[in-house]
Formats: sequence, C-alpha cells, structure tokens
Amino acid sequence: MKGVILVGGSGSRLDPLTRVTNKHLLPIYDKPMVFYPIQALVNVGITDIMIVTGGNNAGDFLRLLGNGSDFGLKRLHYTYQDRPAGIAHALGLARDFAEGDSLLLMLGDNIIERNLLAARRNFDAQAQGARVILTRVENPSSYGVVEIEDNRITAITEKPDAPKSNLVQTGIYFYDERVFEIVANLKPSGRGELEITDVNNYYLHEGSLEYDVLEGFWADCGESFESYLDSQNLVARHGANKLSE
Ligand code: G1P
Repeated sequence: MKGVILVGGSGSRLDPLTRVTNKHLLPIYDKPMVFYPIQALVNVGITDIMIVTGGNNAGDFLRLLGNGSDFGLKRLHYTYQDRPAGIAHALGLARDFAEGDSLLLMLGDNIIERNLLAARRNFDAQAQGARVILTRVENPSSYGVVEIEDNRITAITEKPDAPKSNLVQTGIYFYDERVFEIVANLKPSGRGELEITDVNNYYLHEGSLEYDVLEGFWADCGESFESYLDSQNLVARHGANKLSE
C-alpha cells in the first residue's frame, strides 16, 4: 500500500498565519503540522509516501522533511499541484506514483490520537472499494456529513446547512487502485474543484464503501483558529499517533 499526504491549499481560514507560509508547516505543539499525518502512515507500515504540495512554499517541505529520515524512511516522494483544484485533483497527481497499488490518503492538517492499524486490517480484508474513517463532531456542517442505516453508509453530504447527523468523514481515506480512474472522470463542483466527497459517493453508489469510526481524538487543525488551538491542546495533553490498540 502507498501513502499520499496533501499539503497544498491556501489555508485561508487561518489567514494571516498562512500569509507567508504554508498551513501544514505551522507548529502544532512541538512539531510542524505535517509531521503528524506522516507518522500516522508510517505507523501502519507504509514506507512509500508522496507529499502533494502547492503554492509558494513547496521548497520548504523538502528542507523540513528531506528524505523522511525523522520517520525512519529511506525516501519521500514529492509532487506539485499548480492550482487550487480540489482534494481529488491533488490525489490524481499521485497516479503514476501509485502504480496500480491501493493507497491511504490523509489530509496534511489531520491529527489522530491513536492509529489506523484496525482500519488498515479491515481495508486489507475488503475485496475492493474504499474505506472512510469517521468521527463525531460538534460542528458537522463544516465537514462531509455521513448518514448510516443498518451499519451501511447511505449518504455523504459535503458541508450541509442542516446536517442530519454529527458523524463526519475525517480526511483519512483508503482506496483501491481504481480511484484514479474515478478521479479522471469527475466533474468540477459548484466551487470549481474536484471533490473527494464525489469520489466517496462513487464507491457508495457502487456498494463498496465501508467505514470505521475512529477511537481517540481527531483534530482538524485547519478548520478555524479554534480548531487550530484545540489541536495543539489535545496533542500537548494526550499525545498523538499512539501505537497501542
Ligand atoms: C475536507 C472534505 C470533508 C472532510 C474534511 C476533513 O474538507 O471535503 O468532507 O470532512 O476534509 O478534514 P476541507 O477541510 O478540505 O474543507
């Protein structure tokens, strides 16, 4: 399995912190934000990781991360998204890197307290399809809201005004090798981007979308100043990327 971490975007919700640097380089307690998702992937045994960056600070990631020796990696792979065209578009840039393997995609501003070991085992046992990692939040309308009936996902709605549940998709997704074909056939949404929710809805309609609900905290550092502050307090108090199941 390959890993893809997205660290592009303008980070406008954290302006002016993001005016001269990339959001994913900002500190979260004692480490730069991007360290946390890399560690989460390494913790499930992924050693081939591509960093997809964009904007003005791409070179800083190379300076910060190099070949990934902080994480015990031999090398990291990098690519560049030359315009803000959405999460699914950024994922599409990893097509040649994935070389027909399945992959774990994680947004670079997501932090987990525990690990994805059980989710990886569950995905490996799936014949095909995708697996989304869910959590419960107090402000679901900022996220992709998930509805479940009889233990099956029946709908995912991106940032709805009137959310029907408080269960949302985190920025952590397992995909089979067909995901790049699905991305290639997506149409841009109303905001002109290729949406990851449309990718997940493709698998949902096919009947091959599974899920796990995360244990421990999930932090989305980039949603607001409050979430940025909360993320740091959660990491400082509880730690992140714990290996015990
Ligand atoms: C993205 C997804 C959303 C998901 C969220 C998790 O939103 O579109 O469905 O719940 O990541 O972090 P964004 O935070 O990029 O607006």
